[in-house]
Amino acid sequence: MTVNKIEQSPEEQVEAARKAFEQDIERFVRFGDPSQLDLDLETAESEERGLREIRVRHLGKKSALAASRKLIGRVAPEQRPAFGQLVLSLEEAMTQMTDRIESSLKGYIEAQRTARESLDVTMPGRRPRSGHRHPITLMRERIEDIFVALGYAIEDDREIETDFYNFTALNIPETHPARASQDTFYTTDGYALRSQTSTVQIHAMQRRGVPVRMIAPGRVFRRDTPDPTHNPMFFQVEGLCVDRGITMAHLKGTVAEFLRRMFGPDTVTRFRPSYFPFTEPSAEFDFSCFKCKGAGCRLCKNSGWIELGGSGMVHPNVLRAVDVDPSEYSGFAFGFGIDRMCALMYELDDIRLLFENDVRFLEQFE
Ligand code: DAH
Repeated sequence: MTVNKIEQSPEEQVEAARKAFEQDIERFVRFGDPSQLDLDLETAESEERGLREIRVRHLGKKSALAASRKLIGRVAPEQRPAFGQLVLSLEEAMTQMTDRIESSLKGYIEAQRTARESLDVTMPGRRPRSGHRHPITLMRERIEDIFVALGYAIEDDREIETDFYNFTALNIPETHPARASQDTFYTTDGYALRSQTSTVQIHAMQRRGVPVRMIAPGRVFRRDTPDPTHNPMFFQVEGLCVDRGITMAHLKGTVAEFLRRMFGPDTVTRFRPSYFPFTEPSAEFDFSCFKCKGAGCRLCKNSGWIELGGSGMVHPNVLRAVDVDPSEYSGFAFGFGIDRMCALMYELDDIRLLFENDVRFLEQFE
């Protein structure tokens, strides 16, 4: 005989199948006792997959057990019942054991999943972070509200301008030294980022004609190096009122009323003679410090006064630039910085904080 394989008897084959099954199932047996299960969910799931493989290997179509079952018909008739009994009882035992372990594992996995997904309804919820307006927007809206109440319209206009609107129409001819102090950013095709919201005076009068009462909040640009009090981009509010018979008294009354509504009814306004190309006469305006009420503190640099903006009676040349007759109409104009007002109001040490978009800073205002 050249075949080395020792021919196994049917009973021996069944016995071998049982041994192989017992060997493989051994490490799963403990999972059959739910009280002994202490696996994490992932391990339990992978053990369950392992168990499924074992079921296929030992009870599936290609298993040794299946082969033994086929032998039942081939053993001698007198041995058949006993052999059949042997095979079936093994099958039953294997199935039972596998089922028991499987159901225990399944129950455990199910419980673990439920535990992981379950909600503690008594836990405090996570508050959704709601957005809010930027401090400059808040300030702009306060300013707008006050002027709307005084009968002013809100104008919005372009940030990219021609030389005419930013300078010439505002009585700043090409050679005027005021151009240097308002140096801005230019495009190669003759446009510039506006250096002041005074441009909107011109647009508004061209669009609406006169009489006109408007304010124009908006972004302006200057060729400045950023430092705690300067930024190359900042916000201004321009104001313009043109009608028959407008005098400096109207200017003073309007600015003083605005500042009272902004900083409190006791606020005192002071005008100092100044110069702006687009107004004549011109004045800068200060208001009494809202913090120390004029006594002097760090905020007002001990002067009791806070400088805010420029103003004056609209220069006849500005009216002429938009075809308004200066002998019939007169007006006043003013301008001030929104960021600066923000910095004052919130006592910011550095104006650049307003543009760094750091939520921890911005969240503090509302
Ligand atoms: N445009 C000026 C500036 O940027 C501010 C200003 C001053 C505006 C006087 C005015 C004004 O309307 O009358 O510094």
